[in-house]
Amino acid sequence: MKRREFIGLVGVGSVVASCSHKTTQSTLPASSSRADGFQLAGTVSELDKNGQISNKELSAGAVLIVRDPDNASQLTAVNPTCTHAGCTVAWQQDWEAFVCPCHDSQFASDGKVLQGPAEQPLAAYAVKIEGNDILVKTG
Ligand code: FES
Repeated sequence: MKRREFIGLVGVGSVVASCSHKTTQSTLPASSSRADGFQLAGTVSELDKNGQISNKELSAGAVLIVRDPDNASQLTAVNPTCTHAGCTVAWQQDWEAFVCPCHDSQFASDGKVLQGPAEQPLAAYAVKIEGNDILVKTG
């Protein structure tokens, strides 16, 4: 294959990849903050694909978003930093809880403590869906 043919094929591939990629992208740039204080944290497509969204680029730091186990149309967003000693919790779908890998504290989807040693809840944030965008208000 001649160099010119190769570059032509790569160029076409980039355009196709670029177009198909945009169909799942949000309409807001990442980490932009709106006048009402909400920031783009992810998309419904990502949430449904992965079961959770972890975003560490919001103005307040890390946010972990899951669907409310009691009402799948509702979302919850928490700061995943464990209030016991600062490890990062992970969502365990089978337990319907955020679980800390360091000392096994467990938190409900709204951040309340289910099991210690942590005594304080995870910080919870307002979260909403607009179209395919998931927006979080951390301030
Ligand atoms: S840091 Fe999470 S339980 Fe200790």
